[in-house]
Amino acid sequence: MNAPPVERILFTEEEIAARIREVAAKITEDYQGRTLKLIGVLKGSIFFLTELARRIEVPVKIDFLGISSFSNKNGAPGVVRIAKDLDESIEGEDVLLVEDIVDTGFTLRYLLQTLAGRSPNSLAVCTFLDRNSRRIVQVRVDYRCFEIPDRFVVGFGLDHNQLYRNLGYVAVLKP
Ligand code: IMP
Ligand code: MG
Repeated sequence: MNAPPVERILFTEEEIAARIREVAAKITEDYQGRTLKLIGVLKGSIFFLTELARRIEVPVKIDFLGISSFSNKNGAPGVVRIAKDLDESIEGEDVLLVEDIVDTGFTLRYLLQTLAGRSPNSLAVCTFLDRNSRRIVQVRVDYRCFEIPDRFVVGFGLDHNQLYRNLGYVAVLKP
């Protein structure tokens, strides 16, 4: 088996598990007495979403969205569309959007605008990774597990050409 071309590990499995427990505890506290609808953005967020959901101690429902993002003619990012929509309505629900990583913020801004238009009771964001140094559009992030440097990372859901999502840790790929 080929070892993944990893330069260095940023977060180990143990660190990730411990941090997810902390964030889940905060979410549990904030949503006492309510039912949460977790919305995962395919495919990157599924590893994070399942771990997080198992640690949250209020009732949880789960749904998924699939998106495609494109670059525009000038090669700038920011064009996003829904490729697979939610199965169920979110009207009146307490929605927590679960992302793998917020980078420029274009994807999240689009998703928040789209979901807000569907009349949820509340709408918040939980991201596994946050690369704030690359933010172009300002978006709300209510919960984050880790802030990361400006390097491309893989593992725990994050891919490079669809590979390495199943690594248990998060690593910087060799250039
Ligand atoms: P944004 O619209 O620039 O915030 O893009 C976020 C999306 O880009 C994420 O949902 C990921 O799919 C992808 N992405 C950004 N940085 C990385 C990375 O370091 N590794 C893997 N995917 C990334
Ligand atoms: Mg993504």
